[in-house]
Amino acid sequence: MAFSEEDFQVMDSIIKRYPRSRSAIMPLLHYVQSKAGYITNEGIEVIAKVLQLEAAEVTAVSTFYTQYKPTPVGEYHVGVCTNTLCAVMGGDAIFNSLKDHLGIGNDEVTVDGKVSLEHIECNAACDYAPVVMANWEFYDNQTVQSAKDLVDAMRAGNPPAPTRGPNTLGTWKEASAVLAGINDGKANEGLQAGTPTLLGLKLSKEGK
Ligand code: FES
Repeated sequence: MAFSEEDFQVMDSIIKRYPRSRSAIMPLLHYVQSKAGYITNEGIEVIAKVLQLEAAEVTAVSTFYTQYKPTPVGEYHVGVCTNTLCAVMGGDAIFNSLKDHLGIGNDEVTVDGKVSLEHIECNAACDYAPVVMANWEFYDNQTVQSAKDLVDAMRAGNPPAPTRGPNTLGTWKEASAVLAGINDGKANEGLQAGTPTLLGLKLSKEGK
């Protein structure tokens, strides 16, 4: 895809948020991802150009973080936490059942392009284990059945709201735009920290 004049204006506004232009490399990678759905070679070249870096430097950053995808993912990218706590609470079973249910493996996309699957590390949401993320939004306390229902709803174009955070689930490209720093107006929607997360604070205030 070609980057438009408007794209360059947006990238320029992102760069201007930082005292040193190269500090904008990560949001610019998210911006590229919001346009193409993944990190294209053209996107790497454009970022290198606007930041006056070598393409190899941009590539080094994009390949270090698993959040930047070298190939297209689904409209809804589903991450199943299979780190220790989630795994023993059902994360392994959820991941294996979703692979069978969707007919895809790790880092693969359904034929309709709707859902991709990835096993992910701890999301610091262990108090809601087992946790599934979709486009980096939380679906807490999942079961094999609820996770299957979730991906079925995504494929039908009608995903439910995340357990916490925004009231509606955006697409992968929309989520990437937010991570680039483009405000979608949803930051204050929905439940933020839930009861399990606040329990320790509550107990300490009660002196227990
Ligand atoms: S182990 Fe899954 S969120 Fe921490």
